[in-house]
Amino acid sequence: MSNPNQSGGMSHATIETNNGLMIVLILIVLLFGGMVEIVPLFFQKSTTVAAPGLKPYTALQLAGRDIYTREGCYNCHSQMIRPFRAETLRYGPYSKANEFVYDHPFQWGSKRTGPDLHRVGGRYSDQWHVTHLNNPRDLVPESNMPAYPWLKTAAVDAASLPSHMAALRKVGVPYTDAEIAASVKDVTGKTEMEALVAYLQVLGTSTK
Ligand code: HEC
Repeated sequence: MSNPNQSGGMSHATIETNNGLMIVLILIVLLFGGMVEIVPLFFQKSTTVAAPGLKPYTALQLAGRDIYTREGCYNCHSQMIRPFRAETLRYGPYSKANEFVYDHPFQWGSKRTGPDLHRVGGRYSDQWHVTHLNNPRDLVPESNMPAYPWLKTAAVDAASLPSHMAALRKVGVPYTDAEIAASVKDVTGKTEMEALVAYLQVLGTSTK
């Protein structure tokens, strides 16, 4: 009786007894599977076209976003509400890809030492955020969030905004020449606290 594993061509036995070949074939299967899942997302309108009501960040909000990344807020806060009941009950409607098309880079994150912030916009007053950022323990005694008192006095770095907005326009954020030209004036005299709060207050509001 002939053993099917000894017939010509690439049999199971050949693959299973050859580590190198096995690794290469596994990688090909994973690569193909990954491409089938990921590549279509680059071409779907639901992931590439801005959500209705989504606006590019104003100069002040954009400056606030830079402070958010500079201070590493994303190390403790995600900005992505998953489509699970426990999440939507706590945070609001789950996040959709088209709400982030103007975010370069996005701030989804995955570490939640603090709550998700995607829909924090409008949940508290500006004054609440100022008090909280200045010293979280003044409002939430058990909080382990760091205090950011210097934001109240530090001035926004206005000079960097025009080139920042021009760079964002290159990757698809529809800023007009007028908006870019006005950006320095728009943020001059503003504190980093005002910028960060302006950013927090717009988060996740496009669906409201
Ligand atoms: C070490 C982790 C940590 C870092 C870093 C951190 N936070 Fe927090 N944050 C928390 C925790 C914990 C809470 C919940 C307790 C509280 O409200 O203070 C919180 C709460 C918040 C809330 C209230 C959210 C809600 O829905 O009640 C906001 C807004 C917030 N943080 C913004 C920020 C910003 C902006 C930064 C960066 C400047 C930042 N956090 C950095 C841990 C952190």
